[in-house]
Amino acid sequence: MCEMWYQIREYRDTDYASVRELYSTGFGEHEGAVYVLTLKQHWVQTVLLGLLVLFLFLFGSLLPSVMCLSGVLLIGRFVVAYLFKQGVQLGLREDLQDIRTSYMHPDQISCFWVAESKGFLVGTVALLPCVTDPGAWELKRISVRKGFRHRGLARALCQTALQFAARHKVERVVLFTSVVQSDAHKLYHSLGFHKEKEFIWPSLCARLINFIVFKYAYEIRSD
Ligand SMILES: CC(C)(COP(=O)(O)OP(=O)(O)OC[C@H]1O[C@@H](n2cnc3c(N)ncnc32)[C@H](O)[C@@H]1OP(=O)(O)O)[C@@H](O)C(=O)NCCC(=O)NCCS
Repeated sequence: MCEMWYQIREYRDTDYASVRELYSTGFGEHEGAVYVLTLKQHWVQTVLLGLLVLFLFLFGSLLPSVMCLSGVLLIGRFVVAYLFKQGVQLGLREDLQDIRTSYMHPDQISCFWVAESKGFLVGTVALLPCVTDPGAWELKRISVRKGFRHRGLARALCQTALQFAARHKVERVVLFTSVVQSDAHKLYHSLGFHKEKEFIWPSLCARLINFIVFKYAYEIRSD
């Protein structure tokens, strides 16, 4: 029998800093994709074109105009990076602020798991009752450290959470993911999740860049 290169176990308080660091780096990876999404918006392209015309009018030459436009693009990159950091902070202030209280409560069907490889924390997943969909449980904080991906770890973590849900007679598990987290979509489909709905995240910034969130659902059969 082949020995697993990782162990999945329940969260311990000593994992706190590593869990938060893994969440922050995993989330932060999508910053570039959000910037590209921003640049794809017609209104952004129209504004950039308008600025180029304005710079050409002001400088009367292409080189300084292109340099100014590059400056605008750089500022845009910093703005996206700043907003992204705010998004990461939001998660750190929610359930990840006090992981034990959020997930390891004996009176609640919820849990937080971590995957370890040679004593190093390399993956996480969590399950708790879904606030926006009463009666359903939500799979959250799915993240695998770079360098440990494409080896089935996320699948194993999700299956651990789904088996826990089945043992506790949970019938419906949902999760939310976004248009920029495309790596994860294939994983959810292959686990048996189906896309239930999609919507634009309810915030002004999200609306401006057409930031679509997908809700996936998984029905657990009782047999
Ligand atoms: C998404 C993520 C968790 C996948 O972790 P992983 O350990 O590489 O996933 P697995 O190895 O278990 O792959 C499971 C399936 O997803 C698919 N998959 C994984 N990464 C993929 C990628 N980059 N592109 C396409 N498919 C991918 C694999 O094909 C695999 O299916 P298979 O078993 O049929 O081959 C990882 O990329 C990650 O942590 N990303 C950053 C955080 C994040 O975006 N989390 C999702 C929040 S919604």
